[in-house]
Amino acid sequence: MKKILAVALAALMTWTFTACSGSETTKAANTDPLIGLSMPTHSDESWIRHASFTIQYLKDLGYTKFDDQWAEDVVESQVSQIENMITKGAKILIVAAVNGEALGGVLKKAKDAGITIIAYDRLLMKTENVDYYVTFDNYKVGVAEADYIVDKLGLKDGKGPFNIELFGGSLDDSNSKYFYQGAFDVLKPYMDSGKLVVKSKQINLETVATPGWDAAKAQSRMDNILTAFYADGSRVDAVLVPYDGLSIGVISSLKNTGYGSAKLPLPIVTGQDAEVASVLSIIAGEQTQTVWKDFRVQAKACADMVDAIIKGKEVPVNDTKTYDNGVKIVPTYSNAVTSIDITNYIDLFNAGFYKKEDSVWKGLVQ
Ligand code: BGC
Repeated sequence: MKKILAVALAALMTWTFTACSGSETTKAANTDPLIGLSMPTHSDESWIRHASFTIQYLKDLGYTKFDDQWAEDVVESQVSQIENMITKGAKILIVAAVNGEALGGVLKKAKDAGITIIAYDRLLMKTENVDYYVTFDNYKVGVAEADYIVDKLGLKDGKGPFNIELFGGSLDDSNSKYFYQGAFDVLKPYMDSGKLVVKSKQINLETVATPGWDAAKAQSRMDNILTAFYADGSRVDAVLVPYDGLSIGVISSLKNTGYGSAKLPLPIVTGQDAEVASVLSIIAGEQTQTVWKDFRVQAKACADMVDAIIKGKEVPVNDTKTYDNGVKIVPTYSNAVTSIDITNYIDLFNAGFYKKEDSVWKGLVQ
């Protein structure tokens, strides 16, 4: 279903790439320059929506020339796609990196060509050649997931001990450490007091990370954990998961092992992105929580940044402290996130993020 949706969303993205023609005046090129969007993958519904909203808002501001390229999670493809954008004369690059540390060389070329570079959602690391960053508050994503676990388990009321297992994102995505740190800071006191027990003892981000944000890898890690640490009849009460795709994999593993019955209910499973499959899973009573990042807000912030850069106005940023990429602190526009569960998922529809009329929700959402 995810694939069908991805294809449908891709089909909705009807922008066309218009090459700069030699006859165009310099003035037109300056006011309506080519804008490159380098995106990590089509296989994750969220990125398709990020790009289509960004282009839509830029169109609303009067821009007409776009080059969107999709790396399908291959670093080399992303590098050569950005090289092509430089050759085509892009003036602004919006980059959501596959691997935030791997683009230093091509970003230097872009900078030398006078291009302004915006890191989109994922910070570009260890390079001077990034001008701005537009994101959600990545640390608070983790806080929202962990707060949810703390609330649902009643840890603040002294309940416990409970068993928890932890999952992290992909280590090559700079967001992963913020997500994990946010969650860890909330959960740590309860681990220290013994109210939360990680039976696998797998706690460091390096150990719990999920390379490539790959759901199959998360599923098999959960399989291994359940076999190795829960075969004694103990049960896992909560699983910290940082992204919906992985949550679905973790839930499959749990269900294959017998969770999901009245006798053995599924544990609390968190997520991120409010993807369609996960909202359906929340409605079905399986996934417990997700973090909603309203992509429209981030895409609008990005479009406003681009507009300000092109018009030579002050670029809107609201965080000049947090996002240190190892070489510089990148001026950032950071957006707020919302925790979603069965009690408030309707907000996604009330806000127009999803539409009740779409066939995928038929009969499920009133
Ligand atoms: C994004 C998340 C997304 C994850 C997996 C992160 O960089 O911020 O929204 O869930 O990548 O694609």
